[in-house]
Amino acid sequence: NTRVKVKELLSTTPENQNVTVMGWVRSFRNNQFIALNDGSTNNNIQVVAELGVFDEELLKKITPGASLKVTGQLVASLGKGQSVEVKAAEIIILGECNPDTYPLQLKNRPSLEYLREIAHLRFRTQTFSAVFRVRHALSFAIHKFFNEKGFFYLHTPIITASDAEGAGEMFKVSTLPFDNPPRKEDGSIDFSEDFFGRATNLTVSGQLEGELGAMALSEIYTFGPTFRAENSNTARHLAEFWMIEPEMAFYDLEDNMNLAEEFIQYLIRYVMANNREDLDFLAQRLADEEKQKPQAERSEMGLIEKLEFVVNNKFERITYTEAIDILLQSPAYKKKKFQYDVKWGIDMQSEHERYLVEKHFSKPVIVTGYPAAIKAFYMRQNEDGKTVAAMDILVPGIGELVGGSQREERLGKLEQRMREMHIPVEEMWWYLDTRRFGSVPHAGFGLGFERMMLFVTGMTNIRDVIAFPRAPKTAEF
Ligand code: 4AD
Ligand code: MG
Repeated sequence: NTRVKVKELLSTTPENQNVTVMGWVRSFRNNQFIALNDGSTNNNIQVVAELGVFDEELLKKITPGASLKVTGQLVASLGKGQSVEVKAAEIIILGECNPDTYPLQLKNRPSLEYLREIAHLRFRTQTFSAVFRVRHALSFAIHKFFNEKGFFYLHTPIITASDAEGAGEMFKVSTLPFDNPPRKEDGSIDFSEDFFGRATNLTVSGQLEGELGAMALSEIYTFGPTFRAENSNTARHLAEFWMIEPEMAFYDLEDNMNLAEEFIQYLIRYVMANNREDLDFLAQRLADEEKQKPQAERSEMGLIEKLEFVVNNKFERITYTEAIDILLQSPAYKKKKFQYDVKWGIDMQSEHERYLVEKHFSKPVIVTGYPAAIKAFYMRQNEDGKTVAAMDILVPGIGELVGGSQREERLGKLEQRMREMHIPVEEMWWYLDTRRFGSVPHAGFGLGFERMMLFVTGMTNIRDVIAFPRAPKTAEF
């Protein structure tokens, strides 16, 4: 008599067979009907404790959150909304749950803000169990996509000495004492006595190491945690987030865009085909949330419609210069609705990106040819001398989902750019070696996994799509 998961039970033909199921109580009605869940699906199995069969002491312990082992017969259910139920012969309380101190009162739908404060328990809710099943499926689909294309999964380091983005947003890693580190004569910290013998940090991106792999294996991807010590307390930034970074030899910018678009559509299709139940649940959650907003701010499409639209329509492709022109012509600009100014050369703010995708095009947009001055040193310089072969993918509701580029493969131009941007050329000899020895045109991009999760699940705060969010002032465990 081995345990069967709820998901499997619900699709089994009931033939009065003996089954054992284990899980947590979601509700207990009329001292008789237990809704039991084990996380394999959002649906519960109904366990029937026939009146008069079980003693009062046991029944009192069947409270929301308590864990049970139930053995009984799988029978056809007469109740609405379920095809089978378990007629309990034996109920064992595995763990009691005091209703007076249990912080999860599922009856009155706890708010997402409240659940963030009890992040250790929020997996028990329907919303979060659905989110984390989708997160699992998306992760799997990422590996499946690249595996089918012959890409190799490369594990790039978490601890590194380089600042891939050159933005200085790194968490330092050191074994030196915080309070009294050894110092050089000029007063600066002497890292030569540190574990690594030099200053190191948590990686902001696996790209540079990814390029090394692509220069031999042709097509690789990374998928791992990355860290940014940017103090942006927004619903779209985390200090620790996961990123997928494919890097491809012999690809130009156009190939790069095509791959990114195909990738995003593939992931959405996969989840639509494999996690429909959870997506339908999350779509309903979003619809309820939208109802709380004033009419004018509600989105026209539901979650499922939006996802269908994205897989069935090509992304818009425009240049940065065109994007700036659209913004300058927009009613929002003319009526001074933007908080930040618009002119050629700006690093577009989220309000600008969202105007383009939500108001102007109403679909995902790939923007290419950004000004060199606002992009990283490794991007390939265009003939015009002022823009680079960059591409960002912007999507409704999120803004930037992907950042990528064709890389500068010409040694001289790359070194010159690094000097201009004060990137330590000598320290990065290993990176530049790829340009010295058999350099080839190549390209890649980074997709923010949690932003993709927001897009797919319709959740609106990035802290709600990662199990243990790390953001400013949030690291209790
Ligand atoms: O645009 P970014 O900084 O690009 C890179 O790191 C490149 N090395 C990628 C590459 O070409 N291989 O970051 C890529 C994506 C962004 O588009 C965004 O989706 C996500 O990573 N991202 C964040 N997600 C959550 N929190 C943050 N603080 C993020 N910063 C970037
Ligand atoms: Mg970016």
